[in-house]
Amino acid sequence: MRSAAQGLAADGSEERTVAQDGNADVLVIFGITGNLAKVMTFRSLYRLEARGLLDCPILGVAYEDWTIDQLVERARSSIAATGEPLDEAVFARLAARLAYVHGDFDDAATYERVATAMGGATTPVFYLEVPPALFSRVVAGLAGADVTANARFVIEKPFGHDLASARELAADLHRHLDESQIFRIDHYLGKMGLEEILYLRFANTMLEPVWNRNYVECVQITMAEDISVSDRGHFYDPVGALRDVVVNHLMQVFAAVAMEAPSHGDPETIKDMETALFRSTADADPRRYVRGQFDGYREIDGVAADSTTETYCALQLEVDNWRWAGVPFFIRTGKLLPMRQTEARLIFKRPPNLGFGQFDATREPDQLVMRIDPSTGLRVQLNAHRADTPRPGAVTLDLRFSEEGGEGPTPYEVLLHAALTGRRARFSRQDTVEAAWRVIQPLLDHPSPIRPYAPKTWGPAEADALVADVGGWRKPWR
Ligand code: BG6
Repeated sequence: MRSAAQGLAADGSEERTVAQDGNADVLVIFGITGNLAKVMTFRSLYRLEARGLLDCPILGVAYEDWTIDQLVERARSSIAATGEPLDEAVFARLAARLAYVHGDFDDAATYERVATAMGGATTPVFYLEVPPALFSRVVAGLAGADVTANARFVIEKPFGHDLASARELAADLHRHLDESQIFRIDHYLGKMGLEEILYLRFANTMLEPVWNRNYVECVQITMAEDISVSDRGHFYDPVGALRDVVVNHLMQVFAAVAMEAPSHGDPETIKDMETALFRSTADADPRRYVRGQFDGYREIDGVAADSTTETYCALQLEVDNWRWAGVPFFIRTGKLLPMRQTEARLIFKRPPNLGFGQFDATREPDQLVMRIDPSTGLRVQLNAHRADTPRPGAVTLDLRFSEEGGEGPTPYEVLLHAALTGRRARFSRQDTVEAAWRVIQPLLDHPSPIRPYAPKTWGPAEADALVADVGGWRKPWR
């Protein structure tokens, strides 16, 4: 099970198709004093260092007038705060890589100092941990300092807030950069569970023949979170669940479940298949879209008192191709649901009754569950005749990947390492991003009314109507 999508993309022909080929010789992090570095980046770099996968200097850039000692201290406290056990020898190696340049992102002199501090590096990776509004300013500044020619740029979502703004953002970046230089992070592309789905589908002869409309009744994708938006009200309220996790993360899960087998392992071919799936997906229908908001959301700091932002949404997608025509894909996600669980579930068609009366309408059809979070696994649910029950019933065959070689590295480690080594398949391409926005756009244009739901429940009752014809939402596999 292990080589996974990386294996699909790393088959020897590999992913080194970009002009700026080869390992990075410096990692430059803009916004290194910010929150993302604190909660995610330092820990990921530390873990890469521990695994012997870092081999370049790291240059931090930010507005704060910090000494290098302050930056090292920030790195140490950030790693400790994540709960990662700290090995002093590993940390010393990481600290020795760090350098720091401070300055105003509006000032051309800042970029000149960055260029000097890069010390003649020829394959830099610039990681822009800054708000999207600053992307083009930083890129233009670096272009002015003449250090972008052979560079990769790693950027974080959101990639626009709708189709039009996604296009504008890309046009801004493309003024100075080729698309092949832009590495857009969707951290779901760094998740082992997602990688497993692709591998599982295309590496198993048992599965591929039944993975289509002849056998599958519907697909249910659930991303349940038991957390609130707590201290993120200012960020979350203008965004909502659809933009925060559906148009990006859950569209990636959808792609892994539904796309065709890539005809080659190179990253462009894999992205082409993903884009092809989105292109054959109909515009989402606002009548098949339910929005919910948990009680108490409006009291959160940063949330408008009359907010109609969704903290829950459920929707249906339809794919018009030979594999999937007529098979509904249901996607739901929400904050403050009863558990944290992300899974994709194939629900197969019901078998015939066989005249024995053995199978009745209430019997669950076969199901295949691919679990992505909080741990990865695979469940096959079948009907079988057990000795201890009078009639056939559901039995489950469970595979926990953590017991089959461990959970693997964390998403940000995977992605940072992929950026440093130029593996593009781990990142989102602009045409795929736009194709996803096109599918979702009608739901933004015609949002359904907001429905309240109580915290720790499965969202508003209206969402159940969406799946009434296929036997309802299946409770996620814990
Ligand atoms: C982020 C969203 O992109 O993904 C958060 O902004 C969400 O709102 C998070 O909680 C979920 O990520 P994960 O890896 O915990 O499923």
